[in-house]
Amino acid sequence: MGKIKLKKFLHGGDYNPDQWPEDVWEKDIEYMKYYNVNAVSMPIFSWAQLQPNEDEFTFEWLDKIIDKLYSDGIHVILATPTASQPAWLSKKYPDVLPVDIHGRKRKHGARQNYCPNSPNFKNAARRIVEEMAKRYKDHPAVIMWHISNEYGPYCYCENCAKAFRQWLKERYKTLDELNKRWNTAFWGHTFYDWDEIEVPSYLNEEYEYMPGRQKSSFQGLSLDYKRFMSDSLLNLYKMEVEIIKKYMPDIPVTTNLMGPFKPLDYHKWAKHMDIVSWDNYPSIKDTPSSIAFKHDLMRGLKRDQSWILMEQTPSQTNWQWYNSAKRPGMIRLLSFHAIAHGADSVLYFQWRQSVASCEKFHSAMVPHVGHLETRVSKELKKIGDELLRLDEILESTTKSEVALLFDWENWWALEESMGFRNDISYLEHIDAYYRALYKLKTNVDVVDPKEDLTRYKLVVAPLLYLLDEESAKNIENYVKNGGIFITTYLSGLVDENDRVILGGYPGWFRELCGIWVEEIDALFPDMKNAIILEKPIGELDGKYDCDFICDVIHLEGARALAYYEQDYYSGMPAVVENDYGNGKVIYIGTRPEQRFIECLVKYYAEKAGVQPILPVPEGVEITKREKNGNEYVFLLNFNGYDVIIELKDEYYELITQKVLGGKATLASKEVMILRRLKG
Ligand code: GLA
Ligand code: ZN
Repeated sequence: MGKIKLKKFLHGGDYNPDQWPEDVWEKDIEYMKYYNVNAVSMPIFSWAQLQPNEDEFTFEWLDKIIDKLYSDGIHVILATPTASQPAWLSKKYPDVLPVDIHGRKRKHGARQNYCPNSPNFKNAARRIVEEMAKRYKDHPAVIMWHISNEYGPYCYCENCAKAFRQWLKERYKTLDELNKRWNTAFWGHTFYDWDEIEVPSYLNEEYEYMPGRQKSSFQGLSLDYKRFMSDSLLNLYKMEVEIIKKYMPDIPVTTNLMGPFKPLDYHKWAKHMDIVSWDNYPSIKDTPSSIAFKHDLMRGLKRDQSWILMEQTPSQTNWQWYNSAKRPGMIRLLSFHAIAHGADSVLYFQWRQSVASCEKFHSAMVPHVGHLETRVSKELKKIGDELLRLDEILESTTKSEVALLFDWENWWALEESMGFRNDISYLEHIDAYYRALYKLKTNVDVVDPKEDLTRYKLVVAPLLYLLDEESAKNIENYVKNGGIFITTYLSGLVDENDRVILGGYPGWFRELCGIWVEEIDALFPDMKNAIILEKPIGELDGKYDCDFICDVIHLEGARALAYYEQDYYSGMPAVVENDYGNGKVIYIGTRPEQRFIECLVKYYAEKAGVQPILPVPEGVEITKREKNGNEYVFLLNFNGYDVIIELKDEYYELITQKVLGGKATLASKEVMILRRLKG
């Protein structure tokens, strides 16, 4: 596994010199030096400029700019240009173009507009990648490979159908097994020949139930198609990685991920990445905790490693509905926010603002005006200067005592399944519980239910609807060994094929939770119930609103912590606690108001011995990274006002390079990076 040889915080971004005349390059390099840029990613979308036709390669311009950059101390994150194939390729080989979920064959254009199972696309991609790897394998400027760009769209073509059948044969071996696992006897879907299996699309099993909400009438098939598409795109990525590793075995390889991006199971992807990188594009309305969640999710893909912030925008995007300017101080605060959650870089999309096409009003490090005397450029310059003081925290890692479980397959199944409520949002529920963990003022890991959980004191898993036996056992073991586990309604219900675990809800978790859920009642949006506490729990006492879903719970060893106030289940348990092995499980059978969730999580965190890193005021985020026995504490003030921080020990602050202790002011939108002084 490769590591980045440049031992500096990476600073720079996507560079598209081929979109500009060469005389602009000189200015680019002058400005890069001014900003202390040390790395640029390219040539991400330049396949057409590198290969004008099937038999010709034109790398000379790329050689020239890479040499120029390197002679000025700027390194290159070398990108394979395969996210956007040249028009001649689509024209000559029609199988390159995908078919969409409506069954429509797409035409050439846009980007990420190829079929991952197209033999001709694969051949052509292999060829350009091999040419690049051969050409730049010994170039000292290259510090990392960036494969393609933001892998994404699914395809529904005949080549994909063929490959899907093959994938199914490998997974299930026999049609009998597949028929059983997919429960095909339902609606007479039994298959007698592999070739009868069609890809699920809007032409058959899938439909748009409500705008933007896809549902499936055949979960076994639909779930596997998602797995297969995620794997198909992953195979493309792996194909490129293999070529690169042949020529440059020690160089780290990554691809830019997109946080909670539904189509791809990033837990699987990360196993094939040397280093995780992702593109962070919050709007000005996004809360700090929602951004923190995404960083923690991405870090959790390789939880004992730092990661790369591959893209963010200096100010505006072009693709959000409202593309607000980042407020003064925010790009700096957001850059340090990523670092606080484990990033080793501050990289932007993009270097020079486009002159035309859809991204022309997307901000960049060099704005249209052509000079750097702007509010935003001044802020970027400041960040570039400050990063020079942070090298000692490079590759430091994040250790957490609490974890939130997040699973892509669960996300797919939970939202595509019919029943109870058809408007369930996994991310909204995840957000509610993440917020509760975030308020503990400690590091939070967001991880796969298959990860070893024994390192945690508290694990939270809302709506963990689908899980296989391995994950269920993993959670059981964690609790047996003394862990505290908090879960909710719609958890433990189905296996990896979306088959209900028979014998009483919550299926996998029935014994673990010490309950039987007899009914799962769905409330209309205008309906509410309330839960009444048996006795105070930490800061909680009395009555709290609840809505959404109400489980009708019978105790089978668990103790009731709260009861429903109304309806035919009034007086029945709504929230329970169960002892299991040396640990404890808390099951929340409904959606209580947010304050209840937060106080309950806080109560059990304290019980588990989880302490805040430092006590800090509301609106101040705190995280910690560690390296070589040193602890680095990050304090970020997201408030619109200054706050006082009480420091019991003495600390060295890395940005201001001052020693701090006692009372210290943390101004609005300011950050502190504190190294505890020993002795
Ligand atoms: C994505 C892409 C970039 C660019 C930005 C714009 O992250 O990877 O090429 O289009 O969005 O925000
Ligand atoms: Zn296809």
